[in-house]
Amino acid sequence: IGDKIGLTPALGWNSWNAWGLSVNEEKVKISAQAMADKLSAYGWNFVNIDDGWEAENRAADGAIVSNSKFPDMKRLTDFVHGLGLHTGIYSSPGPRTCGGFLGSWQHEDQDAKTYADWGFDYLKYDWCSYSEVTPANPDLAALKKPYEVMRASLNKVNRDIMYSFCQYGWGDVWKWGAETGGNSWRTTGDIEDTWRSMSDIGFRQDAASPYAGPGHFNDPDMLVVGKVGWGPSLHNTRLSFDEQYTHISLWSLLSAPLLIGCDMGHLDRFTLSLLTNDEVLAIDQDALGKGAMPQVKKDGYQIWVKELKDGSKAIGIFNVSDKYQTIDLDKNGDVLKGFTKYRDVWQQKFIVSTGKTFTAKVAPHGVLLVKLEK
Ligand code: GLA
Repeated sequence: IGDKIGLTPALGWNSWNAWGLSVNEEKVKISAQAMADKLSAYGWNFVNIDDGWEAENRAADGAIVSNSKFPDMKRLTDFVHGLGLHTGIYSSPGPRTCGGFLGSWQHEDQDAKTYADWGFDYLKYDWCSYSEVTPANPDLAALKKPYEVMRASLNKVNRDIMYSFCQYGWGDVWKWGAETGGNSWRTTGDIEDTWRSMSDIGFRQDAASPYAGPGHFNDPDMLVVGKVGWGPSLHNTRLSFDEQYTHISLWSLLSAPLLIGCDMGHLDRFTLSLLTNDEVLAIDQDALGKGAMPQVKKDGYQIWVKELKDGSKAIGIFNVSDKYQTIDLDKNGDVLKGFTKYRDVWQQKFIVSTGKTFTAKVAPHGVLLVKLEK
């Protein structure tokens, strides 16, 4: 089921990393408009509401209702659809969401129907308080259960809704996310806009990576580029420029959903350049849907390799040290074997080389993202 829609990783925006629980209709509209104006030409198309939209109480008939920050959900989804974009919503299988709002516990069918009636195209389903209604130390069956229940509910509605699991990687979710009907699943806890957080998450995806494929992808959490803040205290990401190149390159090599987490009303030129490089996005969106694996892991640098549909490969040469490094590809096994042309993907130009090897000068915490061609 998960493999019929979402055959390439989602490209979109989610409200959480910028707005946290202070998200509202206006902010979502501004984000949608900015996506339509500046990003949709590059394939970006999801505008997703995270936690904070739910009212205090359900309606008399048990239906979920939105709070005063979202006066009319149908009006909002109509607006987003009118821009040619898709839109997503958030809930929890527990009685409460992580932010303390109402979850879908024992209202799964009803909520799936409401989301479909409102016109949503994507559901992020976040474990949160589900721990209160399942035995402690849940076994695999118990970990799967709430995701199966909502899968069954989504199957009953007449709408394609991308289904995104959020349970922080428990029980090696990558091993059973696809069979449980997920289009993506979070593999980790929440990301922060620090090198430590982003690199810890990104460079530890090798266990999950082999399980990525069309319609079912690993989600190492949302992008921390641009202005983030998880609420009212917006600030520029604390990642350096080079760290941001590493972030987008690694997520693209992993075939991760790219969900921008920033204030879309204030997209600066650098952030826009990060998000509008066709050749980089093509690596993320490659139809094979493979997750990259590390072929070289040395002190100070790593080389991650992703197979692409056209027979080429994308490689990320990541300098994880604090100093400039000159990395000789000749000295790194057979990474380049069979390929004679090396395309610097961020720069969109071929690297001058002998056709047998090249040398990469990589900035601290930076990357050289290269497409290897025959
Ligand atoms: C959890 C999730 C986040 C976000 C918040 C919302 O922490 O991992 O991505 O959805 O809940 O409360």
